[in-house]
Amino acid sequence: MEQTKFVLSEKDMPRQWYNLAADLPHPPLPPLGPDGNPVNPEQLRPVFPDNLIEQEMSAERWIDIPEEILEIYSLWRPSPLYRARRLEKALGTPARIYFKNEGVSPAGSHKPNTAVAQAYYNKEFGIKRLTTETGAGQWGSALSFACSLLGLECKVFMVRISFEQKPFRRLMMQTWGGNCVPSPSNETQSGRDILAKMPDTPGSLGIAISEAVEQAVTDKSGQTRYSLGSVLNHVMLHQTIIGQEAKKQLELAGEKKVDAVIGCAGGGSNFAGLSFPFIADKINGAEIDIIPVEPTSCPTLTKGPYAYDFGDVAGMTPLLAMHTLGHEFVPPPIHAGGLRYHGMAPLVSQAVKHGLMTPLALDQLECYESAVKFARTEGFISAPETSHAVAATIREALKAKEEGKEKVILFNWSGHGLMDLKGYELFFEGHLDNYPLPDEEIAKSTACLKDFPTPEL
Ligand SMILES: Cc1ncc(COP(=O)(O)O)c(C=O)c1O
Repeated sequence: MEQTKFVLSEKDMPRQWYNLAADLPHPPLPPLGPDGNPVNPEQLRPVFPDNLIEQEMSAERWIDIPEEILEIYSLWRPSPLYRARRLEKALGTPARIYFKNEGVSPAGSHKPNTAVAQAYYNKEFGIKRLTTETGAGQWGSALSFACSLLGLECKVFMVRISFEQKPFRRLMMQTWGGNCVPSPSNETQSGRDILAKMPDTPGSLGIAISEAVEQAVTDKSGQTRYSLGSVLNHVMLHQTIIGQEAKKQLELAGEKKVDAVIGCAGGGSNFAGLSFPFIADKINGAEIDIIPVEPTSCPTLTKGPYAYDFGDVAGMTPLLAMHTLGHEFVPPPIHAGGLRYHGMAPLVSQAVKHGLMTPLALDQLECYESAVKFARTEGFISAPETSHAVAATIREALKAKEEGKEKVILFNWSGHGLMDLKGYELFFEGHLDNYPLPDEEIAKSTACLKDFPTPEL
């Protein structure tokens, strides 16, 4: 029988995270405070615990993973690497397609890799409660799961459109003890302000972040901190266990080289987790196409300028150097809720600026078609976010067929879509549309950026 799964044992789990900041051609540009100067750790202390601030600013190439985190990771890690032989056959491609299955975690996606780490470091620092935002609900579920294992309280502001589309995600959070409310909510000043201006808003990650940060920094007990599921350097760092495992597994599969590494990109974390260890190889001369995939309705990397911008709508975060569509941009209500974010991780954005990656934007319908093809060949039902990576992989595999090349393609199967079947139903009934973002809209939503400093690399 041909081998389909490449599995590592728990003792082969990587013991360190990889920090791309150590290897980029230019050191990462610092976040800026309200005075236009780089923020210092002191300014971040009301928001994050000191140990995570240290990781956020670290230039160390390797950071040890604490034993307690490894023990929790061992509930589902190392995650299996699959060879998608049935998809290859259906496409008639000479390409060999591999996918890293991050859907095997308890919450169903890659998100627990950082949720567990963040809950652990907050607990170590004496924090009792975390606040956060969630788009599709994957991150809120992951943090609720992590908090339940580490004994912390968890409060989740869930983007309203997803709260309505995905009631079972809310119930998952509740099962793990998380408290989830739709955002914008009446619980925070930023939520109330937005509801007064736009009572029918579908919400956005940017709005939910404002609410979660506000609730953390206004807790007078000092025992609440905020936790972000993507974008920040320490989140990218925690996810790099994915790419490190994948490298070992490709070796097990007998592959000497990979030609394309693909992941969907919302805030950038699953993509970074898979690709950063391969970018290190690329910086050292390997020829690899590294492809972050985003929706045409929220084309941050493909159409947004590289600029300093807030990470949230209300401007509570420092200014981050990133590709952005402007912090007030509210993306159309596509089903890939986790990809509806106006910005992109500074480390991913900078790697794009350095020419280390080639971003791609795809329409929602192509992604659903691809996810259905994947389900009907490989069996697994993809999260709508993940369907973007599936669609880009199918494009690459068909290109290899046209060129008659035996390429090796690796993608991150970032999560399952078993809680996202409503989107599939609407797709089957023909009710879904593409929402490519018109250039005039981008010009409007990015107009605010002219007031901010320009990042110089
Ligand atoms: C399954 C899945 N994939 C991808 C993403 C996008 O986030 P990121 O770009 O941080 O990986 C999300 C976010 O919610 C998600 O749930």
